[in-house]
Amino acid sequence: MTDKYVAAIDQGTTSSRCIIFNQNGAIVAADQREHRQIFPRPGWVEHDAAEIWAKTQAVVTGALERAGLRADELSAVGITNQRETTVLWDRATGKPVHNAVVWQDTRTAALCTELGGADGQDRFRDRTGLPLASYFSGPKAAWLLDNVPGLRRRAENGEIAFGTVDSWLIYNLTGGPVGGVHVTDVTNASRTMLMNIGTHEWDPSILAAMDVPAAMLPEIRSSAEVYGTCTGRLDGVPVAAALGDQQAAVFGQTCYGVGEAKNTYGTGSFLLLNTGTRPVPSESGLLTTVGYQIGGEAPVYCLEGSIAVTGALVQWFRDQLGIIAAADEIETLAASVADNGGAYIVPAFSGLFAPYWRGDARGVVTGLTRYVTKAHLARAVLEATSWQTREVVDAMYQDSGVRLTDLKVDGGMTANGLLMQHQADVLGVPVLRPVISETTCLGAAYAAGLATGVWRDQDELKTHWQRDTEWTPRMDEATREREHRNWRKAVERSFGWQE
Ligand code: G3P
Repeated sequence: MTDKYVAAIDQGTTSSRCIIFNQNGAIVAADQREHRQIFPRPGWVEHDAAEIWAKTQAVVTGALERAGLRADELSAVGITNQRETTVLWDRATGKPVHNAVVWQDTRTAALCTELGGADGQDRFRDRTGLPLASYFSGPKAAWLLDNVPGLRRRAENGEIAFGTVDSWLIYNLTGGPVGGVHVTDVTNASRTMLMNIGTHEWDPSILAAMDVPAAMLPEIRSSAEVYGTCTGRLDGVPVAAALGDQQAAVFGQTCYGVGEAKNTYGTGSFLLLNTGTRPVPSESGLLTTVGYQIGGEAPVYCLEGSIAVTGALVQWFRDQLGIIAAADEIETLAASVADNGGAYIVPAFSGLFAPYWRGDARGVVTGLTRYVTKAHLARAVLEATSWQTREVVDAMYQDSGVRLTDLKVDGGMTANGLLMQHQADVLGVPVLRPVISETTCLGAAYAAGLATGVWRDQDELKTHWQRDTEWTPRMDEATREREHRNWRKAVERSFGWQE
């Protein structure tokens, strides 16, 4: 039997990656490149979509070269991506008409309040599973239509295409203005606030409320099917999967059973719990979202706790404060003291997401005394991640009644053993990291491989999952409760800063 290979492209918030997997789900080669973060004003975050496409092509070439493979040796390519980030482009030229508005960007906060009107933040929740917040794509598209001169008229005429990053990449991979397909998958569509979570179609009443023309929207497809065939560097390779990055991690972690959950620690952290083929509405500040849909099967839903800032706080500590020179130095610095010295950092840089959804929150550092050193602050930076995770786990229990018996983790920050131990301590359950911690790419590759016959079914994929490390809780109950109370007090201090 000749080996089969599947490529995954993960277009994330800070970088683009391509990983090539073999049939055992093992990594054959990888390449990664960062792209510019553009901050035009406080709270605004943009990316250059053309740069993202160029970096994507570069990492595909890099990964193929490192693997010593030709494109025609790939069975398929799957896409996974930063979600909600909004790209509008000109259908005739294939060029973006504005920088992409990134998921972290808060410019639509006032628009969201206006859209909520008398009904408030939950005006569209029953139809979309989402609260009105600057996080989601629909209001970002509406903002662009309102603020780029002449754009709305051109969009109404069908000259402009809207897409999240999956759509942008699939369009370009399949030929761009020369025959490129304009599609999105149901997981990405479920983050636009424009798709009806029950019917998986664009919701005309929401499009009307947000004044978004249907003519600019992509077709919604499943997460695992052939959307088209690549031209260019991957000429002839089928594009056979697309999932938002967090949903791809659910799929790569093989959380296929109801009640299984994973947390991915990237720029932010996103904890998703599989709730099966029924969408579970949240009353505790979580999102109801589509987890994945394999071809013609019924979509599987998740409850999601989205945390905007976790790894990005370490980057801020490194780049904006300059306390460390490299991100991994934070573990040594934090380990040089026994505790946080009374300091807490609430990184509400984009307001607070789950479970609070407070656009008016801004970051705070509290509990300072002259005793506090940079090492204590390093601990507070790491602990902000585990406490924010604890809060979404509590919300999940309230919404679903599911008490986690362990938590599967992945993403860059899981290399930090001190953080993972603290995570197990504050949750009171074991934290498990798999051998392949690149589960986001793995999930996109799995979905693309299922669509093209590389793998038979999900049972086969489950046999690939292997535990690498387990952290078990060590913190005593009294300490956990005291620390939790302090964290909650710190969170309250972050509210109400942005009028
Ligand atoms: O919803 C935002 C999320 O998809 C971003 O993920 O890993 O690029 O920070 P990441």
